[in-house]
Amino acid sequence: MEVIKVKNYEQLSKKAAKLICDMINNKKDSVMCFATGSTPVGTFQEMVDCYTQKRVTFKNTKAFFLDEYCLNHPRLFEHSNKYFLEYNFFNKVNIEEKNIFGFDQNIQNADKTIAQMNERLAENPIDILILGIGENGHIGYNEPEDCDFSSTCHLAKLSIKTRLSQRKYFYDADEVPKYAITLGIADILKAKKIFLLASGLNKASAISKLLQEEQNTCFPASALLQHDNVTIIVDEAAASLYDK
Ligand code: F6R
Repeated sequence: MEVIKVKNYEQLSKKAAKLICDMINNKKDSVMCFATGSTPVGTFQEMVDCYTQKRVTFKNTKAFFLDEYCLNHPRLFEHSNKYFLEYNFFNKVNIEEKNIFGFDQNIQNADKTIAQMNERLAENPIDILILGIGENGHIGYNEPEDCDFSSTCHLAKLSIKTRLSQRKYFYDADEVPKYAITLGIADILKAKKIFLLASGLNKASAISKLLQEEQNTCFPASALLQHDNVTIIVDEAAASLYDK
């Protein structure tokens, strides 16, 4: 695993965006896959800036969602990963709508959306996957409680820890989703290039575990040790326990 350590969140975002845009410039029809959450927001902004400055084009790219919440009411749409990715990235660049592959948020349709995703993944192998990491080591919504390194796209029960970290975004505790659809670890490992981004002290323990430990399904991110093309971009705070 390559580890790139930068000073702070701003540098992390710039570095990640530069590496991703360089890859897209080398392969204009790259298939991307994106995590959501607070970590990649700066990277998306930098990628949008590259696009507006005509340093990259997304015209021929395709994009998969890494995961999506199952929300129990349409009024919660603004909490969906679809809304997040549209707001932070898709609506600001020239990617074509037909090339964006998301999930249906309705849990009743989970089987259908999973089958459709499996077909699309088979037809469009992922070139560039951008991951964040949960404090508990989750990637996508592959949680430590029921992680299986051979898993493919599936309906996942969110851990209490993950739900607590999401609580701040919802008005009412009951609205915090209990389930999400996520690509599985086996899908993640099929991506040709993986970037894992981590920023802040709250990620220091997870990063130190990832870089010092062996593969263990109780720590889902450790599956990345199997992959031969992972770049971890961390800021000083997230790297602080690893360095000691
Ligand atoms: C969300 C996802 C999650 C996040 C992780 C970190 O699509 O894949 O695994 O990457 O929960 O979230 P932040 O960046 O908000 O700390």
